[in-house]
Amino acid sequence: MTVRETLGRLLRRRREPDFVRSDQYWQDRYATGGKSGAGSVGRLARFKADVLNRFVADHAITSVLELGSGDGSQLELAAYPDYTGIDISEAAVAMCRKRFAGDSAKRFLTAIPEGQSYDLTMSLDVIYHLIEDSTFADYLAALFAASREWVVIYSSNMTHAEAIERFPEFAATRHVTHRRFSDWVDENQPGWTLFERIANRFPYDTANPDKTSFADFYVYRKRQDGPAGGD
Ligand SMILES: C[S@@+](CC[C@H](N)C(=O)[O-])C[C@H]1O[C@@H](n2cnc3c(N)ncnc32)[C@H](O)[C@@H]1O
Repeated sequence: MTVRETLGRLLRRRREPDFVRSDQYWQDRYATGGKSGAGSVGRLARFKADVLNRFVADHAITSVLELGSGDGSQLELAAYPDYTGIDISEAAVAMCRKRFAGDSAKRFLTAIPEGQSYDLTMSLDVIYHLIEDSTFADYLAALFAASREWVVIYSSNMTHAEAIERFPEFAATRHVTHRRFSDWVDENQPGWTLFERIANRFPYDTANPDKTSFADFYVYRKRQDGPAGGD
């Protein structure tokens, strides 16, 4: 890491609001001028967009819902025919409405519209920010319930204890809790199967944390033959 990058990280950390709850954390972070984070810019954003744009084209996806859509930086790289972004932060939603004001194929809301479903629902760099167990479970249930066929999750997939053992510096970050979310899916969504895992092009490197990531892509598909849905 260069001196400039180290200073940037320290300054960003100082600006971050104190952690109370995950929803409050993000409300405060955007309200005080914060951004979605390092995973939504530069080469990591490009990697995410390359995978997602190819997936959407290959599977003729017509509608996409993102749960935890953020500040719109990542979305600038997207090529989706129709997109609905949902975020817990009203400030992030307002920012995106302004940023994509001329684009009628994109809309931004603070909750999933009742009764709506989408070809693909996705969660990018959100799972490990869901600190409370109930927030984590409610979020995943909503993500799967809103999809007709595909769910794409870009996240770490290890317990927090495993994460800290491998990377002790993670213990200091209050707004991150790693989870083995695939266990939750296996237990709670019997109607879905893991279709594909795509490893990160830039796997996490302690010496270069802002330009590498512990997240990989996990693509789930609704079983065509098995029990419908899950809860
Ligand atoms: C690290 S940012 C990622 C933004 C975007 N997905 C991307 O890849 O650029 C995490 C986002 O998830 C949102 N978020 C956190 N908890 C959420 C929840 N329970 N429901 C919806 N959005 C949530 C935050 O407000 C924030 O915008």
